[in-house]
Amino acid sequence: MPSNPILICAPSTELRLQLESHLGDLGYATTSVRTPADAVSALRDRPFDLIVAEGLAVSGAIGGMRAASQTPAPMVIVAPAGDVEARIAFLEAGADDVIASHFTRAEMEARVEALLIRSGKVRPKGPGGGPVAGKITTFFSPKGGVGTTTLAVNAAVMLAGGAGDGRVQHVLLIDLDLQFGQVATHLNLSPRYDIAALCSDDLALADPDVAISYLTAHSSGTSVLAAPTNPEGDFRITVEQLEQALAILKPRFDHIVVDCGTRLDPRTLWMLEQADTHIFVIFPEIAALRATSLLLSFLAETATLRATTHFVVNHIFPKELLKTRDVQNLLKAKPVAEIPYTEVDLIRSVNEGVPLVTSRRNSPAAAAIQQLVVAIAGNEWKQPAGVGRDADRARREALRARGS
Ligand SMILES: Nc1ncnc2c1ncn2[C@@H]1O[C@H](COP(=O)(O)OP(=O)(O)OP(=O)(O)O)[C@@H](O)[C@H]1O
Ligand SMILES: [Mg+2]
Repeated sequence: MPSNPILICAPSTELRLQLESHLGDLGYATTSVRTPADAVSALRDRPFDLIVAEGLAVSGAIGGMRAASQTPAPMVIVAPAGDVEARIAFLEAGADDVIASHFTRAEMEARVEALLIRSGKVRPKGPGGGPVAGKITTFFSPKGGVGTTTLAVNAAVMLAGGAGDGRVQHVLLIDLDLQFGQVATHLNLSPRYDIAALCSDDLALADPDVAISYLTAHSSGTSVLAAPTNPEGDFRITVEQLEQALAILKPRFDHIVVDCGTRLDPRTLWMLEQADTHIFVIFPEIAALRATSLLLSFLAETATLRATTHFVVNHIFPKELLKTRDVQNLLKAKPVAEIPYTEVDLIRSVNEGVPLVTSRRNSPAAAAIQQLVVAIAGNEWKQPAGVGRDADRARREALRARGS
């Protein structure tokens, strides 16, 4: 049930009670006032996600109510039925929607929901009536050069390939390695716009259709919000802007994969707090493991996390530096996947900008990345066409080669 705060402004007691009853039954938290002046006070007092106002009473006050809103709140105006002139005047004065006074409960519900979805305040419903996932998965490692970007990119591309049931998966890949992020390089993309540009465009932060234009499309279907093209862009991005950007984009995607890089700062910390799943990339070496333990203690003390945590061991060197059993003992958790050392293929895939899960779909590394994807997307996520039995065989061969 939604619980978005909605402000009702109507001098008519009958209309106020009707709206309170309709919207209250749907779960919205309503506050009712009689006059536009009271509405302005209420809006100054606290934020609302939406305003429903009786038109004739507020026709001269729409601008004032907008100005008083702490956060942009869409406005639905209840207008006299059949008065087309009034309808146009309300829209011109800044109303987002106009509904005739003899509205039905279902009509009001649909209009309110559509505006809340458009402004990113609620998620659209999925085919079964439940919310669309919009799941956020962060990739992070306290140590650089351990394959964080490689794994985030490959996981995103594999997710975009779909669950094998024909349903399209809308995947957004955000490069939050804000100084030198290389997601675009890994995908051979030349983004026209980047995250710094999106975050400094107030219009885009309020309108999902404009925000979408800041993304770069990859042939896999993944949409990329690229890191700043200039490291200086990093300094301009605030947590508040990031919060608005995520709120506006999130309803459009099933999965949001974020490459958080190696640096903890207010932006990455905030993103870790929003995540449903954390993937910590582990390089099997004592210093990297100590850094990860330190990171986990720090997060437990300072952040409000709700994510499921997974570790993935990435063998970026041919020599096994630490046994997986030792890694497991130190982390007190079983890694969800172990990416084998993939000498030429991975380096070539980065140089060519073609992710391994596309260029070497049947390789042991792609099979291991798939385990990671299943951990992110759940057991119902099946193998995309083509990875199937070949990947299973590849995984068995890899295990045999490692003598396990
Ligand atoms: N399993 C692996 N086997 C061999 N090479 C690997 C493996 N995983 C990653 N690499 C290679 O390691 C290099 C670094 O990878 P990547 O850029 O993904 O790391 P990163 O942790 O994101 O680095 P940075 O800290 O610079 O952002 C790349 O050349 C990549 O191909
Ligand atoms: Mg990286």
